[in-house]
Amino acid sequence: MRPFVHVNCAMSADGKIAGVERKQVRISSDEDKTRVKELRKRYDAILVGVGTVLADDPHLTVKELDYDTNPIRIVIDPRGRTPDDALVLDERAPTVMITSEDCEKEWDCEETIRFDGELCLSEILEKLAEEIGIESILVEGGGETIASFFKDGLVDRYTVFVGGLVIGGRTAPTPVDGDGWAVENGIGLVLKDVMILGNGAVLTFEPEKK
Ligand SMILES: NC(=O)c1ccc[n+]([C@@H]2O[C@H](COP(=O)([O-])OP(=O)(O)OC[C@H]3O[C@@H](n4cnc5c(N)ncnc54)[C@H](OP(=O)(O)O)[C@@H]3O)[C@@H](O)[C@H]2O)c1
Repeated sequence: MRPFVHVNCAMSADGKIAGVERKQVRISSDEDKTRVKELRKRYDAILVGVGTVLADDPHLTVKELDYDTNPIRIVIDPRGRTPDDALVLDERAPTVMITSEDCEKEWDCEETIRFDGELCLSEILEKLAEEIGIESILVEGGGETIASFFKDGLVDRYTVFVGGLVIGGRTAPTPVDGDGWAVENGIGLVLKDVMILGNGAVLTFEPEKK
């Protein structure tokens, strides 16, 4: 069985997750940062795409936890663009890199999973469950990665913090980028909860049952 997938991100009031330079912008309130820290503790793994590693160089850890207690970090990096000194590869937590058979890059990390041809997310998720025992994943971005999870119908919960700022810019990334898809009325979600957290609110959605 594949792991439970929860997508979490923070966007501005105009629906951007970063500026046009694709550099990290402080969107979350302090209260939301605390929520995300508690959320991370509840998941077996935290996943991002290589675009987020290159733009933000995140640790993807909970500071007070150690190597044995932090969630496993997972990076989707088909072409091997993650540099050896990326913080996501440090000793604070185990890291699993997902790359293609054609990629010659090797990382000093817990495990590297190589896929043949096109990446199939559902196959990768099953592998993560069967081989590593991962039962739940928090997907933290960016827009391309989140889009691929929605596109393949692999999102079980979506939480988005809407912060009190406007970023602007037609090329600024949004929570769900990618090429888009032609589905009448988009992908249906059911609003489960709204919570004000400082100068913003977190919305919780779950997929509409078909
Ligand atoms: N506000 C927030 O909550 C938040 C959170 C995270 C990131 N961000 C922002 O988001 C931006 C980065 O987002 P991004 O969309 O550029 O990058 P991204 O989603 O982090 O990474 C995208 C890349 O990862 C690989 N990838 C991911 N999913 C894949 C799939 N299903 N199949 C094949 N390859 C896959 C591809 O790499 P290749 O192209 O190398 O094949 C793809 O180009 C930055 O500006 C960052 O600051 C904001």
